Amino acid sequence: MKILAIIGSPKSNGNTYRTVNQIERELNEKNDEIEFEYIQLSRIRLEPCKGCYVCIERGEEKCPLKDDRDSLEIKMKQADAVIFATPVYTYNVSWIMKNFLDRFAYRCHRPDFHEKKAMIVVSTGAVGLSFVASYLSFMLGTMGFITCAKVGVTFAPPHEKNEKKLKKETNKLIRQTEVFYKKLIDTKPVKPSFLKLLAFKMQQKAFSSAPQDLADFKFWKDKGWLQKKEDYYYKVHVGKVNKIIVSLISKFIA
Ligand SMILES: Cc1cc2nc3c(=O)[nH]c(=O)nc-3n(C[C@H](O)[C@H](O)[C@H](O)COP(=O)(O)O)c2cc1C
Repeated sequence: MKILAIIGSPKSNGNTYRTVNQIERELNEKNDEIEFEYIQLSRIRLEPCKGCYVCIERGEEKCPLKDDRDSLEIKMKQADAVIFATPVYTYNVSWIMKNFLDRFAYRCHRPDFHEKKAMIVVSTGAVGLSFVASYLSFMLGTMGFITCAKVGVTFAPPHEKNEKKLKKETNKLIRQTEVFYKKLIDTKPVKPSFLKLLAFKMQQKAFSSAPQDLADFKFWKDKGWLQKKEDYYYKVHVGKVNKIIVSLISKFIA
């Protein structure tokens, strides 16, 4: 099993990296065949997004920035699961992680990481854990990733450190690593939530009437997702009641 850990901290040996390192050790104790690869976003070539819209309108291959983005996408696809880790900087993800999301924004329109399991890791000094973890999980969800576990770790300044707090943080990390591992070895297809089913139908409607030379239209058509009978990105049982409600709501919103 291959896990790719994407570290979005400018510090290559900072709190965020060390937290993921501890997760690696925990996972290896459960299964020593798990292979880990780290990508430090601060160390690869991922130029700042220029906001030109070329990737979204004409296709990601037309992006004027020539750097490590494509090889990063290949690595994410080849991994069995991806850990996304960021520190909280000014109540948000780090700028490096935000740039990563911007550079892969075309995947929010053309999701291609379906059934790929993810773990979200956030480190902070005091606040922002759940806000940042939810934001990151939501954005990755639009690209197809399934968040199996989220863990936020608080690193108190040295004068506030105490054993009890440290133990609490470590226990949290161990629990969430356990949750992640159980989902990793579970091979049953993950059932999408109602909101995800609705998001699929809404996008299906939007892209069906999009200009035919738009990259999104071509991608959705090639995947066969523009056919009305399709309920989701991959084959999964969608109950009749869910089907009817999703169809009604998407018609109403459209
Ligand atoms: C520029 C900057 C902004 C930060 N903003 C926040 C913040 O909004 N809330 C908070 O609780 N901690 C904040 N912190 C503290 C970091 O979240 C915390 O130290 C984190 O563990 C750092 O991870 P790193 O060592 O991987 O960079 C900030 C730190 C920096 C350098």
